[in-house]
Amino acid sequence: MSQTTQNTRLIRMEGGYPLEGTVRIQGSKNATLPVMAACLLISDKCVLRGCPQITDVMYMGTLIKSTGAKVEQTMGVNDMDIVIESTDIQECRLPSRYVSAMRSSVILMGALLGRLGEVYVDYPGGCVIGERPINLHLYGLEKLGAQIWTEGNHIHAYADELIGTEIRFPFSSVGATQNTILAAVTAKGTTVIWNAAKEPEVTALCAFLNQAGADIRIHKDFMESGKIVIHGVELCRLHGVDYCVVPDRIVAGTYLFAALAAGGNITLENIPISHLDSVCEVITGMGGIFSYHADNNSLTLYAPNRSELRNISYIETDIYPGFPTDLQSPLLAAACVANGKLMIKEKIFSSRFKIIEELQRMGADIAVTSEECAIVTGVSTLEGRNVIAKELRGGAALVIAGLAAEGITTVSDICYINRGYQDIAGDFAKLGARISYD
Ligand code: EPU
Repeated sequence: MSQTTQNTRLIRMEGGYPLEGTVRIQGSKNATLPVMAACLLISDKCVLRGCPQITDVMYMGTLIKSTGAKVEQTMGVNDMDIVIESTDIQECRLPSRYVSAMRSSVILMGALLGRLGEVYVDYPGGCVIGERPINLHLYGLEKLGAQIWTEGNHIHAYADELIGTEIRFPFSSVGATQNTILAAVTAKGTTVIWNAAKEPEVTALCAFLNQAGADIRIHKDFMESGKIVIHGVELCRLHGVDYCVVPDRIVAGTYLFAALAAGGNITLENIPISHLDSVCEVITGMGGIFSYHADNNSLTLYAPNRSELRNISYIETDIYPGFPTDLQSPLLAAACVANGKLMIKEKIFSSRFKIIEELQRMGADIAVTSEECAIVTGVSTLEGRNVIAKELRGGAALVIAGLAAEGITTVSDICYINRGYQDIAGDFAKLGARISYD
């Protein structure tokens, strides 16, 4: 989280001005968190470069420290480097306060089982974007030989020895795949995972672990089968690494939808171009024109004039490489001011339309037709309002709506946005928006 956002609760903006200029995309939240967890398996020093300065990363740092590991953060100009040294870790009870603050704390289970053979953790609990059970996480760990007891809100997992096996997930889960990989890396023998999640944050975790001495093989037909083969190595074979975190495809997508909604031309540096196919396809369908510059890995979007911005008729969120659920709300915000209708189907989470009420207060025409479907009919203008960020990506969507709206918008409860965006208002200010923290 940037220094600027730490003590602020509001983002205030005056909308209606096109975006122009260049910003650099931060490191990926969802790639940083599992790699930090993986550092618990490695007793040497690991250097993670280009981590985002956001609340979730700070919480993960605190959880890792609570095990006895050393965690140091060095703020750079753009991002943050984190050094984790897990030489002396003994504590396998994770503090409830931070576990309940962040769902992805659950992936520490796999790493601590691999390292210490035991972990006590609370259930991460429900979530504003819908039910988020962890049955597949527990299934993967139990298949590897962990014994798991649950009592009330508490989970205790123990393994004398983790043993490689075949694990077939009934459907794809990013977190359950990462948890299982973390436990399987030092299990005895070979683990074969079928129907593993294919998100870039899973393959990034495998790349990090392989760099540290693990033996993880992504099968050649991975995009069809989701097959990953892990040959367990002894803990002592894992060694420290110097690793660069991948850029955040969701932050990049958020800024692209903002430019569509507000108009203008923006250039994003440090762009994870190969992770953005489905997003670029939707934006092109809405009238955006892209130019990718391979020499400096940047992407320019030329947004159409508002009169030429058009909705595609239908989109559904899906597992990678489909359109990401995390960009459903940012797309929704841009669709509010595009010509024509968009039907949007949310297939991943059960309750990710909470932000619609706030968009409607700004004048958006959105009908929620079922738990998973909403129909947006573009309007010529949104009106600035005081709105509340109820969750991370929905909060970012309200900032997009505010940039496109006439007049002043304030977005409150920005602690949600700070969980994933290092400096959203600072970045939009660099793109010429009239926006600040308050
Ligand atoms: N699911 C189960 N059982 C499980 C695990 C998941 O039923 O044991 C269900 C979930 O309820 C959901 C679906 O499976 O309906 C997919 O969930 P998944 O496990 O793939 O999601 P996750 O690992 O909890 C990560 C990201 C999310 C992102 C999803 C989907 C992190 C820290 N979080 O969550 O990111 O939306 O994958 O891509 O990596 C965000 O950044 O705003 C965010 C929510």
